[in-house]
Amino acid sequence: MQISEINYVNFRNLKDNNLKFSSKFNLFLGKNGQGKTSILEAVYFSATGKSFRTPRQNEIINHSRERTGSFVVFEDSISKKTLSVKLGKGKKEYSYNKKRVKYDDFHGKLNIVSFIPEDISLLTGAPGVRRSFFDYEISQANKEYYQDLKNYTKLLKFRNKYLKEKKHNDPMFDIYQNEFIKFGARIIKKRLDYVRNISILLNLNYRKLFDDKKELRLKYSCFLGELKKVETAQIEKLIQEKINQVFWQEKRYGFSLVGPQKDDFIFLLNDKEAKSYASQGEKKSIVFSIKLSEIDMIIKEKKESPIFIIDDISSYFDSLRKESIIKYFKKRDIQLFISSTTDLNMASKNFYIEKGDIYEEYDQCKKDNRGSRDQK
Ligand SMILES: Nc1ncnc2c1ncn2[C@@H]1O[C@H](COP(=O)(O)OP(=O)(O)O)[C@@H](O)[C@H]1O
Ligand SMILES: [Mg+2]
Repeated sequence: MQISEINYVNFRNLKDNNLKFSSKFNLFLGKNGQGKTSILEAVYFSATGKSFRTPRQNEIINHSRERTGSFVVFEDSISKKTLSVKLGKGKKEYSYNKKRVKYDDFHGKLNIVSFIPEDISLLTGAPGVRRSFFDYEISQANKEYYQDLKNYTKLLKFRNKYLKEKKHNDPMFDIYQNEFIKFGARIIKKRLDYVRNISILLNLNYRKLFDDKKELRLKYSCFLGELKKVETAQIEKLIQEKINQVFWQEKRYGFSLVGPQKDDFIFLLNDKEAKSYASQGEKKSIVFSIKLSEIDMIIKEKKESPIFIIDDISSYFDSLRKESIIKYFKKRDIQLFISSTTDLNMASKNFYIEKGDIYEEYDQCKKDNRGSRDQK
C-alpha cells in the first residue's frame, strides 16, 4: 500500500498543508520541536483514527482550534482509495471513499505500522501495554479477531457486573458465562497462533539486522498455564475448569479472575526474559524487530505491504544500527515515512520542517534562493 497524498488542518503545531509523497522513502528533516513527530502522527491518524503517542485524542487538535481533520489518498493493489478522519468536541467522524462510515468499516483499510522511541515501553511497561499492542496488531491482520475481542470485552463487563452485584444465581449469568468462555477461548487460540508465527519472523529479523548470534523468541503467557497445540474446544474446557477452581474467590472479590485480559507476552533473548536481562541497545533492537515482524505478518495475511513510520531514527539508534536498518529497507518494497534531525544516506523525497511549516525539497530550494542546496 502507498499513500500518495495527505491534507490536514489544525493538527498540532502543523500549518495546514497538502503534501504529495514518494511511493518509497519520505524523509522529514528538522530540528527538535519543529513538528517532525507531528507530521508522522498525522499520517498515522489518517490511517487509524488514533495517535501513536497519546490516548488523549484531544491533544492533537491545535491549541487555538476546536477541531482537526486529515484526509489521505492511498492505493492498494486493487485501486485508489481515500480515508478521512475529523475530530472535534469529543466526536470523531470517519469517511472511506468520501462516504461517512462507522469505525468498524474504517479500521484495517489502510495498514500501517509505526515505530516511535516511546515504543520501548512495549518491553519495559506493564502487561496491559503489550496486550493492547498485540490486540491491535492481530486485529489489523485478522478482522475476526477484532470482532471476537469486541464481543469478549462486552461479555467480561457483563460478567463482572453480575459478580459485583452478587447476581451469579441469575439465569442470565450462565448464559453470559458460556459466551464469555467461548469468546475467551477464541482469543487465546488466535493469540497462540499469532505468537507462534510472529516469533519465527522475530528471530529471523533480529538476527539479520542486529545480532546473528542471539536467539529471540516471543512467548504467550496465559493464565491457563503452558498451552501446547490446543484446539479452541480444549481451551474452553480449561477455562471452565479454572472457573470451577476460583469461582468462590470471584464471588468474594466481585470480578473475573480468569480470562485473556490477565495474559502477557514475554520476549526471551537467549531464553532469558529480555525485560530485565537485555541491554538498552538490545531492547531497542528487539522492539524494532517486532515491528518489522508485524509488517511481515500483515504481508502474509493481507498480501499487501503496510506503510511503515519510523520516528526520530537518528537520535534513537547508533550509526551501526541505523545503517543496517536503511540497508534492510533499500531491498524491500515498502513505503516509508521517517523523521530525523540529520540527513540519512539514502535516496528519498525530503521534506523540511520549521515551526510546523513543511517544505518539499523543491520548495526548499526556492526558499534557499533558487536551488543552491549543494549538500543534496
Ligand atoms: N495541540 C498542539 N497545538 C499546538 N502545538 C502543539 C500541540 N501539541 C504539540 N505542540 C507543539 O508542537 C511542536 C512540535 O512537536 P513535535 O512534532 O513533537 O516536534 P519534533 O518531533 O520535531 O521534535 C512542539 O513545540 C509542541 O509543543
Ligand atoms: Mg519528535
